[in-house]
Amino acid sequence: MIDLIIKNAKVATASDLFICDIGVDKEKIVFLEKNSLKEAKRIIDAKNQYVLPGGVDGHCHLDQRTKDGTEMSDNFESGSRSAAFGGTTTIMPFAIQFKGESLRKIIDEYHTRANDQSYIDYTFHPIISDASSKVIGQELPAMVKDGYTHFKIYMTYEDLQLNDREILDTLEAAGREKAVVMIHAENYECLKWLTEKLEAEGKTDPVHHSDSRPGVVESEATNRAIALSRITKTPILFVHVSDREAIETIRNAQNKGYKIYAETCPQYLFLKRDDLKKDNFEGAKYICSPPPRDPENQKYVWNGIQNGTFDILSSDHAPFNFKGDKGKMINGDKTPFKNIPNGVPGLETRLPLLFSEGVLGKKISINKFVEVTSTNPAKIYGLYPKKGTISIGSDADIVIWDTGIEKKIKNSDLHHDTDYTPYEGMTVKCWPGTVISRGNVVVEDGKLLGKKGFGKFLKSEISNYVY
Ligand code: URP
Ligand code: ZN
Ligand code: ZN
Repeated sequence: MIDLIIKNAKVATASDLFICDIGVDKEKIVFLEKNSLKEAKRIIDAKNQYVLPGGVDGHCHLDQRTKDGTEMSDNFESGSRSAAFGGTTTIMPFAIQFKGESLRKIIDEYHTRANDQSYIDYTFHPIISDASSKVIGQELPAMVKDGYTHFKIYMTYEDLQLNDREILDTLEAAGREKAVVMIHAENYECLKWLTEKLEAEGKTDPVHHSDSRPGVVESEATNRAIALSRITKTPILFVHVSDREAIETIRNAQNKGYKIYAETCPQYLFLKRDDLKKDNFEGAKYICSPPPRDPENQKYVWNGIQNGTFDILSSDHAPFNFKGDKGKMINGDKTPFKNIPNGVPGLETRLPLLFSEGVLGKKISINKFVEVTSTNPAKIYGLYPKKGTISIGSDADIVIWDTGIEKKIKNSDLHHDTDYTPYEGMTVKCWPGTVISRGNVVVEDGKLLGKKGFGKFLKSEISNYVY
């Protein structure tokens, strides 16, 4: 007898919508049949509920080392737990390299942080901040051969940024090795110059974070990164794209046939600049980079999802507590914006927000939802078809969605260890009811049934997006 049958499922993949029974055995999907008469150890009747592939969150930060005395409020245990409650069954956090460090060492160290902690499967994106000839010439190729086929580089942040020459060297090596390069595009010199001017005028409140990083800071870097990609003939993927002009720049490059991919995040669909103005230092809760833009800009982000400019929607969960001296208030409730750690939490709310406003709000189809939140990140980061779809032979990572409900998002109901959500008080009309990871029920009826340590590290294949 097989392990599980989900009956009467309204299955959506990135391309199809059909009703069937899903058979699961030994962690895999073994059949998709109409009115199957087979027996199983457990039968769940999905009663025409949407049954979708588990979410693949292609960008989140967990237990990531910092250099400024801050500490992330989520580790692999709490982050993966919260992701599972939000319908995500694969996560991709970052193993960060600081200058002078060996890539091998940082990857090993990050495995130690993840080992036996996660409820769901995971892979890592290394962050390369040291583009020395040893790292680029030896460590990068070895890393790709070992199954870390995607990594991130930065054009900003004092400790992390690469200059144009270093980016060229890195892209050239990545192109040779067929690795996916994720790029954080903001012009560091411009935002530093603007920050110094704002400081000189005494403008250090959270909202001025946004003034130090206007859209043009992002679109300039986006344009330049596309040039560097063209010079080296290496595809790139822009992460957390927010700005209207940056989106247009990416679209133009894609239209010309350049291999330019892009990710956006819920914060650019649901948060806005004015949130950073909130009293009592609450604006700090919304500080992330790039910053939330004005409400008009949100339309361009939705449009970018609809027209395919964006391949992926990730959370960019970057969790820092609001209270306490390790997070947003590192120097108290007058901390200047420059010293407030960047990032917002969002692993658990990513899918309900997009499903509710996007699919149920008729902005995008259910297939587009699956494509950008599960199938494409699995494909781009070399995990497909093991992850990212419902098909025979794929891992049985499956989410049965409750719709026809109204739920107010409250941090007290979420399962991360962060003391706030920027989406507090927003209403969604759906939530994942049953979440299954490799055939095992992790979350059901609001209860955690999964086991810490069940989640396994996933080696990535070479992505066929970088042919
Ligand atoms: O503000 C953000 N996005 N923080 C996380 C780090 C990053 O650059 O993704
Ligand atoms: Zn970034
Ligand atoms: Zn990030």
